Amino acid sequence: MAREKWASRLGFVLASVGSAVGLGNIWRFPFQTATNGGAAFLVVYLVAVVGIGIAALLAEFVVGRRANLNVIGAFEELGHPNWQIAGAIGLFGGFWVLSYYSVIGGWVIRYTLGSVFGGVVPWMGDPLANPVEFFGVASAGPDAVAFHAAFMVLTIGIVAFGVEGGIEKATKVMVPSIAVMLAGLAVFASTLPGAGAGYAYFLSPDLGALLGNLGNVIPAAVGQAMFSLSLGFGVMITYASYIGDDDNLGTDGLSIAFFNTLIGVLAGLVVFPLLFAQNVSPETAGPGAVFVSVPTALAELPAGSILGLVFFGVVLIAALSSAISLLEVVTSYLIDNYAISRPQAATGLGLVIFVLGIPSALDTAWLGWFDGIAVNVVLPLSLLLVVVYVGWVLAGDALDEVQRGTSGAALLGPLWLWTVRTVVLVAILGTLLLGIRKLLVNGGLIPPF
Ligand code: TRP
Repeated sequence: MAREKWASRLGFVLASVGSAVGLGNIWRFPFQTATNGGAAFLVVYLVAVVGIGIAALLAEFVVGRRANLNVIGAFEELGHPNWQIAGAIGLFGGFWVLSYYSVIGGWVIRYTLGSVFGGVVPWMGDPLANPVEFFGVASAGPDAVAFHAAFMVLTIGIVAFGVEGGIEKATKVMVPSIAVMLAGLAVFASTLPGAGAGYAYFLSPDLGALLGNLGNVIPAAVGQAMFSLSLGFGVMITYASYIGDDDNLGTDGLSIAFFNTLIGVLAGLVVFPLLFAQNVSPETAGPGAVFVSVPTALAELPAGSILGLVFFGVVLIAALSSAISLLEVVTSYLIDNYAISRPQAATGLGLVIFVLGIPSALDTAWLGWFDGIAVNVVLPLSLLLVVVYVGWVLAGDALDEVQRGTSGAALLGPLWLWTVRTVVLVAILGTLLLGIRKLLVNGGLIPPF
């Protein structure tokens, strides 16, 4: 059977934006901005996105499009079978990440349903009535396992319909919905008294905070850029392997990064006015913040349940459009290599991933451990290998591939390759070392330094 393809270039871009836009944009990004110098951090982040994020994204695109094969097979197809280990690490990472990503997706289903039916169906509970208690019940235990299963079923349902019929069709609706719903919420939030204080917290450029703390701010910006663009788990290699035409990869990468950033900024314009208007402290980052602080703020508003539905609806769509990209990485590998159908592959894998996620659904400490390993080690390690491969092994062929479909960008190509070989490589290596250090410090294995 012929390998599947995106029906259109827009479809590829939207699917990639769907993968990139997730919890990382809606919670992590606004927070990183607010606590690292506001608008000044935004500038550093943009430099990191353009100088490192997009260059690394293009490295993944180059591998995927040149080989037209899954994340492991691609390296063999390009003539370097030893490098398949790079793909294998990414593939393993995607598998691992989806197991707990789906657990969080399950919480979000629970919150979305609870916002609507919480008052009517007693066992479900209303997240706005008692946010702390609701989070306790929803985040760990048998309920969390059940909703984790529900989220996995939705993910399998989309991936089973294929690249064009499932992922492309779904993300064409999902990504614009995320933008429209967030924009609507942002407009609403701007009418709240106290919104101004929220904007000030989010956006005021605090050069002092930035310059006094560059040693932390730069890794934070680079890490956020890589995480947010869904690099390192083979997603972008896999998605690019379905590109049929000689499109300009550079403009695609720019569009993806642009929309990804735009949605992060929009999310900040929703979250901070909301929190400040209700005097909810924005200091708690992490899951507790999205799942406790936001409902606490919403509970004070007259139409809180409807707003809760829209807010958690956005988070749900964003999580789902990312989850499908992770399942697709592994599904693509199976159907490229074995004589099984896409629905069989997606369902079988979904089941295994569901089981792997059960510990995370029973105990948030497990979830944190899964996440720590994935984000601090597997992501930068797999991305580092891809970048070394593209910059130093594929080299001239990579340049040739990135320039296909471009006209007149004769200088940009070599500049990109040079960046990948040097700045990008060093930045990702640094991120990996910092990530390992963080894991060891958190695990109590080495003292903080
Ligand atoms: N980019 C996603 C976000 O911002 C998170 C993420 C990182 C991701 N790597 C991924 C999602 C790989 C899907 C696939 O929330």
